[in-house]
Amino acid sequence: MCHTNDEMLEMFEATLRQMQTPEEPKLLYTPIIYSMSGGGKRLRPVLLLLANEAFGGEAADAMPAAMAVEVFHNFTLLHDDIMDNAAVRRGKPSVYAKWGGNVAILSGDAMLITAYKLLAGLGGERLARVINIFNDMALKVCEGQQYDMDFEQMERVSVEDYILMIEHKTSALLSGSAMIGATLAGASDEDIKKLYRFATELGLAFQLQDDMLDSYGDEALGKKIGGDILEGKQTYLMVQAMSRATEEQREVLRNTHLREDLADSEKISRVKALYDTLDVKHATEQQIELRFDRALTVLDSLSVEEARKLHLREFARNLMGRKK
Ligand code: IPE
Ligand code: IPE
Ligand code: MG
Ligand code: MG
Ligand code: MG
Repeated sequence: MCHTNDEMLEMFEATLRQMQTPEEPKLLYTPIIYSMSGGGKRLRPVLLLLANEAFGGEAADAMPAAMAVEVFHNFTLLHDDIMDNAAVRRGKPSVYAKWGGNVAILSGDAMLITAYKLLAGLGGERLARVINIFNDMALKVCEGQQYDMDFEQMERVSVEDYILMIEHKTSALLSGSAMIGATLAGASDEDIKKLYRFATELGLAFQLQDDMLDSYGDEALGKKIGGDILEGKQTYLMVQAMSRATEEQREVLRNTHLREDLADSEKISRVKALYDTLDVKHATEQQIELRFDRALTVLDSLSVEEARKLHLREFARNLMGRKK
């Protein structure tokens, strides 16, 4: 019998609790523990473990890889908060806000190295393939993060370019995790390709939802609402708004965050008022649903019996219902 999402999560948390971290230097390791135990949802390791089990793998064998993707994910968040100038993560000060940029950079670097140490512990004949998937995925995340920053400086970004950017910065880590799990279990190339498409679409839906929550969620989300607006991010909401706006409205959309005469709350409410006028929330919800449906359709075509796909489907559903 396959494990449920909750059981997988519990197994993962139990393993994580046993992870040893050196004591010194404190300013290198304390931020790592702070980040790893800070209330993350553990989506990537759970997806890896579910994909692994769907193809007959043993959770215990895939656990080092599950740890590696979660450590890697948290590393990206340490650096992401520096790049996004984000003071709050998971309802608490980000590592960057608490200890400063230098600490966030170096602790992040140590986490990246730790991820590779965990992978190296996998051993076995499939290690080389797993490392290849991991490397491709990690580079894709870096490419996506650079596009994300490039786009901040651009007046207009097309929907296609935006989707490509989030496929890199967000989907890559989810699809890489699913592929690593399936690879470790010996899944066929064809099924691995399908899992890639499943997790890619799911990742797009997830990031679209993240964009929407950044403007329309509540602070219980654990982030400061409106952070994307203040940073001048090209989110799906912004890209859609720009394509629907008049010349005058475009001026407001792209320049409000730069105005020194306005308080942050005023900047946020002015941009959101235009989002409302241009009905972009609705457009975003539609796109989320489309991507989510596509993910589930791909899952249907996976060549394993229905009982083995059940928990992957549950994973997708939980993801779409997220509020934080
Ligand atoms: C945050 O990912 C970064 C994005 C890709 C939006 P999660 O929302 O999965 O982060 P945690 O680990 O659960 O906090
Ligand atoms: C996250 O994008 C992508 C990575 C961290 C690689 P965001 O910048 O939108 O994530 P949050 O909103 O800070 O979690
Ligand atoms: Mg970012
Ligand atoms: Mg960010
Ligand atoms: Mg975000």
